[in-house]
Amino acid sequence: MTSPNNSRKPLIAGNWKMNLDRKSIQELVGAVSSGIVGRGAVDVAFFPPYVYLPEVLRACEGTNILVGSQNASEQASGAFTGEISVSMLKDIGIPSVLIGHSERRHVYGETLEQIHRKVAIALEAGLQVVLCLGETLQEREDGRTEAVCREQLSTALEGVSRVDLTRITLAYEPVWAIGTGVVATPEQAAAVHLYVRGVLAGLFDDSGAQSTRILYGGSVKADNVTDLMSVPDIDGALVGGASLAAKSFLPIIEGAQG
Ligand code: 13P
Repeated sequence: MTSPNNSRKPLIAGNWKMNLDRKSIQELVGAVSSGIVGRGAVDVAFFPPYVYLPEVLRACEGTNILVGSQNASEQASGAFTGEISVSMLKDIGIPSVLIGHSERRHVYGETLEQIHRKVAIALEAGLQVVLCLGETLQEREDGRTEAVCREQLSTALEGVSRVDLTRITLAYEPVWAIGTGVVATPEQAAAVHLYVRGVLAGLFDDSGAQSTRILYGGSVKADNVTDLMSVPDIDGALVGGASLAAKSFLPIIEGAQG
């Protein structure tokens, strides 16, 4: 039942969504970067809004903090007003992109096909991808959690090579747990993470599945992260609300070290 591979380094990532401003970002990045000095057992990442990416990247220079985008277009370039391409992200030195967040799927209606194209174009551009997946409350109540996760995963990763899998991190984010304060229990999360890792093994191979990080997201806080991280298949957290202030984010990083 448990993963034999303990070599996956935990990752605690902050998805700022459409929050913060220049001043609060400077304070947050400053406090987190000095707060993690000497705590190299956990990787840390920020996903700021597009317009702040260059200055967050600059502010994180010389630290181990990874900076990624919350989204990218599935189009390469052209007449797509308001969109940002993967080559633009690459051009300004952004190494990573979140794809398929539930707010993109459910608020902005991104389709499985769009998400598949985003994953493909991001990998082609040489970026790392954090692919989000997860079921709604209705889907869980209908007993469809596994089917939904399998479909989201297999469609998004269609055509992805085994080599490119090494640039993918997954984030299981049950939609009912996002921003609600209702965190999945470690048992609920464990069951889905194990299932998702099994799907990965089927799509690729066992070593690919064992070496891919699977984060949990949805109401992660300092007081629940240690229990979640004690689940062998949970390799970190994608944090929304609690990532917006150092006083709530740093204790999560600390709690993830066990
Ligand atoms: P919350 O931590 O605010 O529930 O958000 C989770 C999330 O959506 C991270 O991507």
